[in-house]
Amino acid sequence: MMQGYTYEGAVDCTQLAKVEHLKGKTAIVTGGKILILQPWKELALRSHIQKGCNGLGEAYVRALVAIGVCIGDPDKERGIKIEQELNGTKFIRCDVTKWEEQVRLFEEAVAFSETGKISHVIANAGIHRPDDIFLYSGNHEEPKEPDLSVIDVNIKGTLYTAKLAAHHFIRQNGAGGLPEQDDTSLVLIGSGAAFLDCPRAPQYSGSKWAMRGIMHSLRRTAFYYGSRVNVISPWYVKTNILSDNDFKHVSSVGVKFAETEDASQCLLRILGDERVNGHSFFVSGKKWASNGYLDLDLEDYPNNPLIREIQEDQMKSAPVDLGLFV
Ligand SMILES: NC(=O)c1ccc[n+]([C@@H]2O[C@H](COP(=O)([O-])OP(=O)(O)OC[C@H]3O[C@@H](n4cnc5c(N)ncnc54)[C@H](O)[C@@H]3O)[C@@H](O)[C@H]2O)c1
Repeated sequence: MMQGYTYEGAVDCTQLAKVEHLKGKTAIVTGGKILILQPWKELALRSHIQKGCNGLGEAYVRALVAIGVCIGDPDKERGIKIEQELNGTKFIRCDVTKWEEQVRLFEEAVAFSETGKISHVIANAGIHRPDDIFLYSGNHEEPKEPDLSVIDVNIKGTLYTAKLAAHHFIRQNGAGGLPEQDDTSLVLIGSGAAFLDCPRAPQYSGSKWAMRGIMHSLRRTAFYYGSRVNVISPWYVKTNILSDNDFKHVSSVGVKFAETEDASQCLLRILGDERVNGHSFFVSGKKWASNGYLDLDLEDYPNNPLIREIQEDQMKSAPVDLGLFV
């Protein structure tokens, strides 16, 4: 079980993930063609990690397949294909912006789990769109109400996932902060846009910075219910999130992409180590890290005593035991 949040420096990402104890656990991946990972099926955990997965969610699913996965995604055709291909997975059609659909996703995951428990939830569903907030309407046009679907999927959808994850973790584990609680975790998906300046995309950037905000809040309280929360922020990875032309442009200016496998290895590193709480990891690709991902140590201010002092006052004024838990 985790202790309350304390800063202990960056996570060593050169260590191999220890995953054997994940055997038999159930996980949910949204937007992976959402995946519930179910019991161990006598498969080598990494044997299903393949190059060229259809999206990062699918890569997470393949990495987790040996422990049983539920996939939540609106793309039924692809989801069913994965379910049929990979033993131990179940596809559930789910639009993360619809509360009832996410409620059902979690219920189905519980039913699918041999233990009736969910151990890990990866809130991966996310979209990128041309940004109405940025785009100029024209000299002779009145500004129209902007399309905020990026906010709906990336923030609202993730908050629903976070709420349901906490609900199930508390129901399974209680909220007493006791040593015998099972390890559970929530993984949020950021982006380079969660910490870099990304012009022309205020909604997407805002939605990805929000993942770090949600993590900062939850990392202080998750230990009450034996849980932890972390962020994976991928650099450019060739998926369907941008058009081929967009990716061609990125490539043409010399940017080196990360691979889906870098992201799935990062996920296994987080899930496999109960001590990892409150960190965000950059899936950098091999250009910046031998394993394809690293902890940029962005989430604390070890060299800024003023911010640390202000944070202490913040904790005094917003205690973690808010009486929220029964
Ligand atoms: N690929 C990249 O370069 C990159 C970089 C940084 C962050 N990310 C993040 O990684 C995550 C996965 O993106 P990807 O690159 O695999 O993109 P992708 O477009 O290939 O996959 C996104 C998945 O989310 C699903 N999805 C979309 N709307 C949904 C909804 N309302 N409910 C449920 N599922 C929904 C899609 O069906 C798809 O399966 C996203 O959160 C994205 O912001 C991607």
